[in-house]
Amino acid sequence: MKGIILSGGSATRLRPLSYVTSKQLMPVYDKPMIFYPLQKLLDAGITEIMIIVAPDHCGDYMKVLGSGRDFGTNVRFTYEIQDKPEGLAQALLIAENFLDDGDNVTLLLGDNIFEDDLSTEIKSFKTGAKIFIKEVPEQDRTRFGIVELDSNNKVLSIEEKPQQPKSSYAQTGAYVYDSQAVGAAKAQKPSPRGELEITDLNLWYLQKQQLEAAIISGEWIDAGTFESLYRANTWAREQALKK
Ligand code: DAU
Repeated sequence: MKGIILSGGSATRLRPLSYVTSKQLMPVYDKPMIFYPLQKLLDAGITEIMIIVAPDHCGDYMKVLGSGRDFGTNVRFTYEIQDKPEGLAQALLIAENFLDDGDNVTLLLGDNIFEDDLSTEIKSFKTGAKIFIKEVPEQDRTRFGIVELDSNNKVLSIEEKPQQPKSSYAQTGAYVYDSQAVGAAKAQKPSPRGELEITDLNLWYLQKQQLEAAIISGEWIDAGTFESLYRANTWAREQALKK
């Protein structure tokens, strides 16, 4: 299992904070934001990790994260630049050579903070695709990919930022894929907003009946807005003080 952290994008929702600083390097209490998803990969025993960044910030990431050795003797980071934020599924295309031996991969978004330990779900993964879902309040449902489940918690549909959400479950920024993902992403067409959507990649697996959803129970924060970034900071502080 290899890991990818997608840490590009332009973070327009966080302007003026994001004019010179990459969102995923902003502080969340006592650490840069990206340390939180990174820790989830390390906890799952993943040592080969690609960090995908926007062109303006590559040097900053190397300065903050380095080779990987500070995080474990076997840990190695590979950096790639995403020239334009053309969608989350583009990460699989950028990582094509990195995922050369038919590897499975865990893709985490650099602005997603999880309380749950994802390591059991990641380690038990064999084939297909796995998404991690979490119930969100009604007012947030149009912000996310919304996942409809049947009574056995099998995925029925996923809709990206729907006007009329069919469920209370959001797809979080954690995805595990088998080696079919690169080929599936290659066959994808950009959505009307010009992006290779992660939802479309997940729907590709759903059509093949190879998509599984794991419900997470702990806190989940997509720290991409002022409110959620503030919440991430207070939550991380509470967690740190509990220790
Ligand atoms: O956070 C979970 C949500 O993430 C899911 O519920 C949605 O289905 C999924 O599409 C995504 O929605 P967002 O609107 O939150 O995606 P956003 O464009 O904000 O990008 C998420 C992160 O990925 C953010 O840290 C920036 C980075 N990114 C984004 C794009 C589009 C990239 O690195 N490259 C990109 O091309």
